[in-house]
Amino acid sequence: MIKKLFNKYYHLFPEKIILMHQLINEKKTHNKDLKNGLPSFIRSNYLKHLKDKKFLKIYNKIKDITLIDILRLYELWYLIYQSNKLNDGVYLEVGAYKGGSSIIIGSALNEFNINKKLFIADTFDGVAKASSKDNKYIGGEHKFTDIDFIIKNLNKNNIENFEILKGVFPDFNSKKIKDKIRFIHIDVDTYKSAQDIVEWSYTKLVNNGLIIFDDYGFIGCEGITKLCEEYEKDNRFIFYHNINGHCILIKQN
Ligand SMILES: C[S@@+](CC[C@H](N)C(=O)[O-])C[C@H]1O[C@@H](n2cnc3c(N)ncnc32)[C@H](O)[C@@H]1O
Repeated sequence: MIKKLFNKYYHLFPEKIILMHQLINEKKTHNKDLKNGLPSFIRSNYLKHLKDKKFLKIYNKIKDITLIDILRLYELWYLIYQSNKLNDGVYLEVGAYKGGSSIIIGSALNEFNINKKLFIADTFDGVAKASSKDNKYIGGEHKFTDIDFIIKNLNKNNIENFEILKGVFPDFNSKKIKDKIRFIHIDVDTYKSAQDIVEWSYTKLVNNGLIIFDDYGFIGCEGITKLCEEYEKDNRFIFYHNINGHCILIKQN
């Protein structure tokens, strides 16, 4: 009966009918949601990333050279746009691998007319500083050595204002960053690598500067989750837990 009504009137009020359908079903699923931890129905249908043609154009070019999914990449893209409200500072990514997320960041800087330098740091020798705090990584994973491939791809996408920093960061090459920093994307997979980057950067970050951690809450990246939750208690930062796999820290003076 309900199905018949649904089919008959759907074309008249599609949004209202979808909402009604969701509300009815949502009631039935509350207990299941508590068990699964995720809602069975997502009521927000506003998939902003699928409406953003400029983002999608870049995403389609890099989707095969990144380990990051569309939602986290869109969050990077969008936070770059928002970061231009900060007074000063350059951009830093640690953990570039094949350069997919670097191209998203560089393209966002172009798209939003942000004339600031992007530093791209990687060992180009795989994951570093694995320790007993990391349950899966042992060091050397995600090794990608073809820096020319990354540079060519950045140039092909009209990204010119960047510098590659090769070596374990911040132990090597961090002195090349003389300016204040407003945005750091940390995608390095291990506890100690990520901790050293945050501690090195603290005094260089502008007030309200953003640190975005990839891998927060990921199976296999428990070291990153542990570290982020230590920063949750740290008054130097506002901690924001995003269920998409990002943890965001906002520096407080
Ligand atoms: C998961 S990959 C990065 C993925 C990349 N952001 C993407 O879009 O696919 C992790 C990278 O971090 C690098 N890495 C890990 N620890 C590092 C450190 N302390 N300094 C520099 N690079 C590091 C590794 O070499 C590897 O390329």
